[in-house]
Amino acid sequence: MSLRGILNADIGLGTINRNIYGHFSEHLGRCIYEGIWVGEDSPIPNTNGIRNDVVNALKQIKIPVLRWPGGCFADEYHWMDGIGPKESRKRMINTHWGGVVENNHFGTHEFMELCRQLECEPYINGNVGSGTVREMSEWVEYLTFQGESPMAALRAENGRKDAWKVTYFGVGNENWGCGGQMRPEYYADLYRQYQTYVRNYDGNRIHRIACGPNVDDYNWMEVAMREAHRFMDSITLHYYTIPGQWGEKGAATGFSEAEWFETLRKTLRMDELITRHTAIMDKYDPTKRIGLIVDEWGTWYDVEPGTVPGFLYQQNSLRDALVAGVNFNIFHKHRDRVRMANIAQTINVLQAVILTDGEQMVLTPTYHVFDMYKVHQDAELLQLSLEGGSYSFEGKEEIPAVTSTASKDSEGKIHISLCHLNHLASAEVSIDLRGLADTSLKASGVTITGDAIDVHNTFDRPDQVKPQPFSECSIKDGVLTVSLPAMSVTTIELA
Ligand code: AHR
Repeated sequence: MSLRGILNADIGLGTINRNIYGHFSEHLGRCIYEGIWVGEDSPIPNTNGIRNDVVNALKQIKIPVLRWPGGCFADEYHWMDGIGPKESRKRMINTHWGGVVENNHFGTHEFMELCRQLECEPYINGNVGSGTVREMSEWVEYLTFQGESPMAALRAENGRKDAWKVTYFGVGNENWGCGGQMRPEYYADLYRQYQTYVRNYDGNRIHRIACGPNVDDYNWMEVAMREAHRFMDSITLHYYTIPGQWGEKGAATGFSEAEWFETLRKTLRMDELITRHTAIMDKYDPTKRIGLIVDEWGTWYDVEPGTVPGFLYQQNSLRDALVAGVNFNIFHKHRDRVRMANIAQTINVLQAVILTDGEQMVLTPTYHVFDMYKVHQDAELLQLSLEGGSYSFEGKEEIPAVTSTASKDSEGKIHISLCHLNHLASAEVSIDLRGLADTSLKASGVTITGDAIDVHNTFDRPDQVKPQPFSECSIKDGVLTVSLPAMSVTTIELA
């Protein structure tokens, strides 16, 4: 199979917001507890209770922003349960996720400490479903008010005199579902009320985020935008890639070729969803002041056999690497609306970048794609078109064989990322390089691929799938030629 393309290196299409590479960590299964928080007394090496190996791995991929505490957990979370001396914090049952004890040892101070260690922005999701306006307002005061106030005094009593800076604040999560089963009209009114008390204190400017639709609920987007657009800075979208049906989603490994194809076909739907939701947003916000934040995305499979169903623990294979790359390419394309995306979830839950088992840690294929794509963070998106090459399996509808993106970083280096979806054949790609300031550039690359559709990393074999140096790329007479292996994600640098 061969594809031809044109890269216009002198046509910049705007900056790719680094927050597209954001994460989401909920009090769910082993994401927060064990995955991040092990406590100060743990034999697992930690700093202030937060495991060092995980922090180092996440810093390596330049995690820009982290969403917390949920998810569905957010609309059941009462933040005051998670402050003060740990021994007197409330113990309760995490009713939504697995019915396990939540001891509240990871709360506001611990989350802000995590963000400090990660050097990333906090994105806090407030409780609309079962919380009060006062509770949300006081959380913002506790976090960000520097002067004399009851919440600032309480924060100081708990060991933190200085207010934190908090940029992103979500007003509810999935309020059409686990966050209160609301109608959009009702949520829009509540949003207007709650956000009024999410105040900007002491120079802290909060970016207010409204709960947006699930998948293709265009009516939710229409009503929320119509009734509340003046009061929001961004609105969310949730879309999970599920190869099967809700009741029988499919396995994370040991799946069929048909499931490989179906997963990629379904993940490509993100493009249509963003396009159509954007069209509605454009009606009320033609200047694109408001961002679309895809704060839950990724694959959702059946849990690993023998694990607690409510913990949503799944393996992660080369297929997930392709899903990650394909979605990044889509988010880049929509960079004028998509200002942030948060993969669900960082550790041990759904499409995780890291898996842990006690003190052991494994980096997943998805992690490696985050690493390969970090060069695009805050880079200028370039115009790249690629034609030819479709992919179909067992008579199903055709999908593109290759999806692509290109950007130029602040040093002038150009990076081209190519996701090759076809699991059976390689692909020859030729790209005319136009508008290059320097014509003596050389191409080098890195690729992630494997010898089976479900190849993955385990605690016994942690390096089965990882990026390898890639030399099947060269430039001759202004044309870049690349030989892409079947089922691969590749990033090429022109420097
Ligand atoms: O990520 C798991 C769950 O999926 C989240 O808690 C919820 O917001 C969504 O339904």
